[in-house]
Amino acid sequence: MKESNFAVPDIKEKENELKKKLDHSGLPCHIAIIMDGNGRWAMQKGMPRAEGHRAGVESLREIVRLCVELHIKVLTVYAFSSENWKRPQEEVNVLMDLLVEYLYNEMRELHENNVRINPIGRIDRLPESAGMALQASVNKTSGNKGLVLNIALNYGGRLELVDAARKIAKKVKEGKLDPESINEETLADHLYTVGLPDPDLLIRPAGDFRVSNFLLWQLAYTEFWLTSVMWPDFKKVTLLQAIIDFQHRERRFGGLIHS
Ligand code: IPE
Ligand code: IPE
Ligand code: MG
Repeated sequence: MKESNFAVPDIKEKENELKKKLDHSGLPCHIAIIMDGNGRWAMQKGMPRAEGHRAGVESLREIVRLCVELHIKVLTVYAFSSENWKRPQEEVNVLMDLLVEYLYNEMRELHENNVRINPIGRIDRLPESAGMALQASVNKTSGNKGLVLNIALNYGGRLELVDAARKIAKKVKEGKLDPESINEETLADHLYTVGLPDPDLLIRPAGDFRVSNFLLWQLAYTEFWLTSVMWPDFKKVTLLQAIIDFQHRERRFGGLIHS
């Protein structure tokens, strides 16, 4: 108890200090996060993996609030990959139940904050309860013009490209699209992220250095920020630090920087 009494003002102070270092005119438009490390965080504490996932939801809540406060336009969070079905059924159930709980608990606040919830991935293959919660939150927030919160669920970057190829092929077959006219824009327009800018910043907590099938097309020129901090320990200060570091990067997009 004693510790937390001291820890709260400390963290607030750090947060305010970092906020002062932010360049509000150079914020990333789109932040993508691979919310990783829940299981290891729990194991390190001698707790079941499910507790790590539950703690991870708290981090998500906090990070979404900060993105709203900073007027970030798009936040994409990787919540469940198309490969995560390989996990034990009980863990998959925990993750799906937490998703449903998160959506019903947060929907009102998200809506009040003008957030639009936008699931991406093969969401038609999710359990019915998850599908219903997603549908309800999409319906409620569809008119919102603030932060777009992409929740990647049963998402795979390769599957997204397969789905895009199918949609494009169908249009070609129906005579609605000339194959010679297909360009990068056509492809981008058939991704789940249609109409949204590519991520400026990709964050992966928990110490691994890989993309794990996330946003393969969209990450072409994204800046990566990696940290050993586990997702349940990822707080506002961590995101602020990531954004500040991002603001010191030199992005060249294959060209040259003119001085
Ligand atoms: C991220 O945490 C949550 C999902 C992948 C759904 P993990 O469950 O992957 O946690 P680690 O990587 O095993 O620690
Ligand atoms: C990526 O994490 C997927 C999510 C965070 C939802 P994983 O834990 O599934 O990735 P790998 O298995 O370490 O590559
Ligand atoms: Mg993991």
